[in-house]
Amino acid sequence: MAKIRKAVVPVAGLGTRMLPGAKVVPKELLNVVDRPILSYIVEEGRAAGIEHFVFVTGRNKSAIEDYFDHQVELEEQLRAKKKDSLLAELLKDLPEAGSMSFVRQMQPKGLGHAVWCARDIIGNEPFAVMLPDMIMDADVPALKQAVSAHEATNGSNIIVVEEMAQSQLHQYGVVALSKQDGRCNPMTGMVEKPQPGTAPSNLIVSGRYILNPEIFDLLSDQAAGAGGEIQLTDAMARLMASQSFHALQYEGVTYDCGDKIGLLRANVALALKHPQLAATAREAVTSLL
Ligand code: G1P
Repeated sequence: MAKIRKAVVPVAGLGTRMLPGAKVVPKELLNVVDRPILSYIVEEGRAAGIEHFVFVTGRNKSAIEDYFDHQVELEEQLRAKKKDSLLAELLKDLPEAGSMSFVRQMQPKGLGHAVWCARDIIGNEPFAVMLPDMIMDADVPALKQAVSAHEATNGSNIIVVEEMAQSQLHQYGVVALSKQDGRCNPMTGMVEKPQPGTAPSNLIVSGRYILNPEIFDLLSDQAAGAGGEIQLTDAMARLMASQSFHALQYEGVTYDCGDKIGLLRANVALALKHPQLAATAREAVTSLL
């Protein structure tokens, strides 16, 4: 079976829910505890065996490319001042040369369109999609759990899902299952942003996917769906007519960093688990409550 080597990371979104913070700093580079959100995403991808990241980017997002390149002057300063551990932290996120690509979406036409923009770089192999709003904290990285499910199901498309309160379902993609037995189940359908009361389950599409490359054919003629955008969910629902899809309830905790309180939760929760900062973080949080 083809190895999952490449991941598409859509980062063209404007981050309107994170303004004014995301006005000049891309929302994907906002900090969670001591490093940007994208540092967590790339770390998770690497731990799942991803060798090449394709960032689908847009105007005002060039800081993302700079983050994943050397900052020679800064590195020299840290070296001269013998700030070795800080320097190591900085270098840890850097990719091997040539193992990241950046393509421009050019127009905000939706997640399906963003993924389609990566088609030439992905080529004809199964690949991962990682939505950077979601930090997934798990003992076995969430994407690695998805890759294992892809292998265990003989190359099925995998959608990582999680339970969500009824009142929130209309904000997400929601999957339909033929049966629910254990964590990985065959899917029968999916719908993007269902009208309240019409969702086919309480399991939302939560931000990690393993997709076969045939999705690109469907995305190339996908009409606009929910919100007037070209939806990845709609193309996946069509691919389901000819390929199998499984929904995987991964083991771990998701932090949605795409809104202000979600980012705050991520900061508090991950600070309380941070090897060096946990004790002082606990004092700081407790003193506020
Ligand atoms: C996107 C997907 C949706 C998914 C969600 C997870 O929606 O289209 O299926 O449930 O991400 O955050 P968006 O958040 O871009 O509206």
